[in-house]
Amino acid sequence: QLYRLQCQSAATQVYGIVGNPVSHSRSPALHNAALAAAGLDAVYVPLLVDELSPFLHAFPSFSGFSVTVPHKLAALECAEEADPVAARIGAANTLVRQPGGGLRAFNTDWSAAISAVEAALGGGSALKGKRVIVVGAGGAGRALAFGAVERGAKVLVCNRTKEKADALAEALGSMAEAVEYADVAAGKVAGDVLMNSTSIGMHPAEEETPVSAEALSGYAVVFDAVYTPLQTRLLKEAGEKGCVTVSGLEMFVGQAAEQFGLFTGKTAPLGLMRQATLDSMH
Ligand code: ATR
Repeated sequence: QLYRLQCQSAATQVYGIVGNPVSHSRSPALHNAALAAAGLDAVYVPLLVDELSPFLHAFPSFSGFSVTVPHKLAALECAEEADPVAARIGAANTLVRQPGGGLRAFNTDWSAAISAVEAALGGGSALKGKRVIVVGAGGAGRALAFGAVERGAKVLVCNRTKEKADALAEALGSMAEAVEYADVAAGKVAGDVLMNSTSIGMHPAEEETPVSAEALSGYAVVFDAVYTPLQTRLLKEAGEKGCVTVSGLEMFVGQAAEQFGLFTGKTAPLGLMRQATLDSMH
């Protein structure tokens, strides 16, 4: 997809999303809509990047980056400074250029997703004491597991590569434990809330699902970080089993809105960003 970039002066601020793949991302659509609505002389571009560190050094004129698969762990390592929450999570989805020229890493992935799940559970501090299963221990999984532990949940993490789940559980401390992915997928291990952080079920592989339909019936809430398509097979089957479902759209728009604040110092136009995301999907 090509974007029309309105540079108003030689001082136009340039932002971008680094990832691989990146062509499916709606971030350019919603960030460009928000930057234009705020009247800022700024543009935002998609960047297909294999190796993060050399790329970041080659483009010192960028004012900030959104970071997606598979660079969220590397983003934290490459940054000159890190926000304490991003450091604790061990992954960053946001890099902001500092006055001295270095990049500061932040993680805005967890708060909107965790708030949406709490609202689905009935609001307040609804995650306290709940048993939360997190599927995936990559950048997004680390952020979601961290958020659930922060809110007082008992977190069980599983991952295709078990060692990554073990490492994440250890980093999170006594409120977290690593379990076998096959046991979660088959329903032998379950809980109150299921959160999928993997890309399983993302377009064009919509027919895939991380957890079998039969394993879903005991969950009160099922969250899927995938937002393309909005209705994944996981969410469809969870709905059929009577679970409340939360789409990745809330996480996507929420992380971008917080990121917009970090990039520009302005309050994000949340409704406009949600609408721009939905419009870009048609
Ligand atoms: P993100 O920042 O979105 O979390 P990531 O750090 O690259 O991206 O992590 C991707 C996650 O999806 C990992 O947990 C990965 O499992 P591995 O650690 O075993 O690679 C998981 N994942 C991706 N595709 C998967 C698949 N087909 N089956 C199971 N897990 C998958």
